Amino acid sequence: MKVIIGSESEIAKKAAAQYVKLLVNKPGAVLGGATGSTPLGLYAQLVKLNKEGVISFKDVKTFNLDEYVGLDGSHDQSYRYFMNTNLFDHIDIDPANTHVPDGINTEKAAEYDGMIEAAGGIDLQILGIGVDGHIGFDEPGTPIDSITHVVELEQNTREVNSRFFRSIDEVPTHAVTMGIKTIMNARSIILMAIGKSKAEIVKKMIQGPVTTDVPASILQLHPDVTVYLDDEAAALL
Ligand code: GLP
Repeated sequence: MKVIIGSESEIAKKAAAQYVKLLVNKPGAVLGGATGSTPLGLYAQLVKLNKEGVISFKDVKTFNLDEYVGLDGSHDQSYRYFMNTNLFDHIDIDPANTHVPDGINTEKAAEYDGMIEAAGGIDLQILGIGVDGHIGFDEPGTPIDSITHVVELEQNTREVNSRFFRSIDEVPTHAVTMGIKTIMNARSIILMAIGKSKAEIVKKMIQGPVTTDVPASILQLHPDVTVYLDDEAAALL
């Protein structure tokens, strides 16, 4: 794993530079998307670079990691809504080329890996990390060979994510998520972590044993992962 440490704005710019390099070489790249507060700085950079004409998403396809079960794209806490409002609505991407797992027709989860493969596979996957080490919504214990599937969310994950809902009762109990294998199939991976609440799990991910108890630690086995950390998230390394 390559580890890059800097301020929040520095790491957003450095991660964005990785996208510029990819899109200049491969304008029809396939990008893996993530939600959460962590990639927001990166997405703002991508919007800026697109407006400045440095990069175009005209031929890009995207596949997001996950979606809550039961929320459709019009729900303001759905990950489809998040992607539209924080990225897709502000860049020159064709909405038909953007994919988020279907949180309503969950039987379609089984088709998602095939769709990614048919598009040529993911060139660059962006990831955040949950305080329990989850990536996407692959909670501790998720098998290493898992593909896109429905998961029951850990109570702790629901509590952490309840900050975006009126109350914890409104946080969905299940989600559809790419599996560990789906994520590991990406040719390159960027994982970003910001803030002191992530410091302990970041240490386990990078310096701890590879174990399904810490799903993000499995990334140690991937040949092309760059981890971008702010100083607080890197504090225990
Ligand atoms: C959610 C998402 C993850 C994300 C994590 C961390 O559970 N499913 O993809 O990485 O939250 O979110 P944040 O970046 O807001 O800390």
